[in-house]
Amino acid sequence: MPLFALIPAAGSGTRLAGERPKQYAALAGKPMLWHAVRAICVPPVEHVFVVLAPEDRAFSRHDWSAFAGKLEPLYCGGATRRDSVYNGLVAAMAAVDADDWMLVHDAARPCLPEKDLESLIRETEADEVGGILALPVAETVKAVAKDEAGVQRIDRSEDRAQLWLAQTPQMFRAGLLAQALQRAKHPVTDEAGAIEQMGLKPRLVAGSRENLKVTYAEDLAIAAAILARRR
Ligand code: C5P
Repeated sequence: MPLFALIPAAGSGTRLAGERPKQYAALAGKPMLWHAVRAICVPPVEHVFVVLAPEDRAFSRHDWSAFAGKLEPLYCGGATRRDSVYNGLVAAMAAVDADDWMLVHDAARPCLPEKDLESLIRETEADEVGGILALPVAETVKAVAKDEAGVQRIDRSEDRAQLWLAQTPQMFRAGLLAQALQRAKHPVTDEAGAIEQMGLKPRLVAGSRENLKVTYAEDLAIAAAILARRR
C-alpha cells in the first residue's frame, strides 16, 4: 500500500508573533517545519512532499539531511491552504498514483505522536473514503454574534457531544483528494472539508492533545515542553 505525505508550508503565519513565517519559527533548536517532517517521515511513509511559497528563501538555508532522499520541496504554494495542497498534489502526481494514500499534515503541528499516526493509518487504510485525526471537544462551545455596540455575545450553546476538533494528518486517496479540492465550491480549511462537499463522510480517528496546532506565541512554549519531555 504506497503511502505518501504532503506538508503545506506556504503560509505567512501572521497570528504568531515573529518576523519569520510560522513554519520556520525556532523550536528546540530547529525550524518548526523540521519537527513536522520528522513526525511524518517514518515507515511506512515512502516520500514526503513539502509545499513552499514560490519566493521561499528560508528552506534551503536549513539542514534537512536527516531525511535525505525522502523529502522533496515543491515551490508551488498558493494564496490559501487549499491552493497550496492542490498545487502540491498536482506536482506530486508525477510520482504518485491516483489510488495511493496521501497523508496531509500541517507544518504547524510539530508534536504529532507516532502512536496517533499509526492509529490513523491502521484504521483508515481499509476505509473507502479516508479519515482524519480528531479530538472530542472537552470545553463547552458557544456560537457568538456581535451586538449593535460591537460586543461579542453568546448566541447559543452547541451540543459538544456532537463536536470534534479536526487535526492533521488527514489521509485520503491522492486522486480523490485532488478532485475534491478542485471542485470545492465553499471555502475549506482542511482536506476533509473538500471531501465532505462531495457528499462523502470521512472517518474520525481519535488523536491526542499533544498534537496541538501552534498558532499563537504561547503555543510554541507548550510545543517545546512536549518535545523536551520525549527526549
Ligand atoms: O494558517 P494555518 O495555521 O491554518 O495554516 C495551516 C498550514 O497550511 C500551515 O502549515 C501553513 O504553512 C499552510 N498554508 C499554506 N499555504 C497558505 C496558507 C497556509 O501552505 N496559503
